[in-house]
Amino acid sequence: MKELMRLDKYLADMGAGTRSEVKLFIKKGRVQVNNEVVTDANRKIETGSDIVCLDGRDISYVHYEYFMLNKPAGVLSATEDKRAETVIDLITTSKRKDLFPVGRLDKDTEGLLLITNDGALTHSLLSPKKHVDKKYYAKVEGVVTEEDIELFSKGLQVDDEFLAMPAKLTILSQGELSEIILIIQEGKFHQVKRMFEAVGKTVVYLKRLSMGSLQLDESLQPGEYREVTEEELALLR
Ligand code: URA
Repeated sequence: MKELMRLDKYLADMGAGTRSEVKLFIKKGRVQVNNEVVTDANRKIETGSDIVCLDGRDISYVHYEYFMLNKPAGVLSATEDKRAETVIDLITTSKRKDLFPVGRLDKDTEGLLLITNDGALTHSLLSPKKHVDKKYYAKVEGVVTEEDIELFSKGLQVDDEFLAMPAKLTILSQGELSEIILIIQEGKFHQVKRMFEAVGKTVVYLKRLSMGSLQLDESLQPGEYREVTEEELALLR
């Protein structure tokens, strides 16, 4: 991908400093473009072909980043928060400063969260019209029954305002604490928990396993992340 942009924006986007800091670096002659010192912050750079260096260090431009995070419990699905740690705080190796989570998981939910700065991909994954499958594993207090499978498959009335779309419920183990897999195509606030509440049960542990074609890499421990591969990205698009 190629794009023309101002030198100061190029450097600020790549985390070399704030816009005013990088303007100062440029003025002081610390920045070279194609081996020549450039002191004009307005200079137009063609990303992907011009070579930009700060203090002799090559700074290549990255338009988009994609990370797969195994979100741990206790961390907020937000970009910043004054008090609590956010999922963006966990991504320590990114170049871009404009990353955000694709959708939200509750603070106590674990599992797959895509972190990116690609707004178009985010829109296509979250658009209600696209019916992207989201697969969850849950531990549920109470005996989950065949009747629940039936109710979920028909589209469950959750409360006065919310009729859930048909969802595929699979029981892994049945007992006072049941284990289930649920595939839904919506992403309403507390959706999985509210669906089980509607049938008189309580979700006590929730983990997202996949979103569309993207599956959680089970080698990632809670809190760990890795880049999404080219192959995974191509499938997701
Ligand atoms: N449904 C929920 O109830 N919580 C989540 O975090 C995700 C889906």
